[in-house]
Amino acid sequence: MHPLLEELHSYHHDLCTSIAQLRKLLARFKDGSCDDAGRRELFELLASLHGDAEARHHRNEELIRLQLLATRAPLHQRVLEIERDHQGFARIAGQLAALEQSGHTPEEIASVVEDYLRHYHDHMDSEENIFFPMADEWLDDQHWQVVRQQWQH
Ligand SMILES: [Fe+2]
Repeated sequence: MHPLLEELHSYHHDLCTSIAQLRKLLARFKDGSCDDAGRRELFELLASLHGDAEARHHRNEELIRLQLLATRAPLHQRVLEIERDHQGFARIAGQLAALEQSGHTPEEIASVVEDYLRHYHDHMDSEENIFFPMADEWLDDQHWQVVRQQWQH
């Protein structure tokens, strides 16, 4: 796989660790055993899921997606949906941050966050199983050069 795709892949891998931690905290949210420290940790983890690194990651993926659109690759519906996902996640980020100060119950917060994680997981799945392999197959050196010129580390 192209080294830039490997880089995106390893970012996903690191995210999965945070998501696993989040799921543990959510379980405690739901059974009522979550204290204030757990609550803080949950919102810190959520914030880390949509910080600067996340925005850069999505921009880098978009660079590749645009190059892929310029090829004759038969585009899969799920690849077309990736852009919409990226825009959606940016919007949801603000809503998730606002949850902390909202009057929602822990169960309500847990269900919103779980919903988000489910979407996020599906999104990564489409990227890893459909989008990245297609990019690897269809982009040539010239495409990758364009991507690399705008890539943000
Ligand atoms: Fe991604």
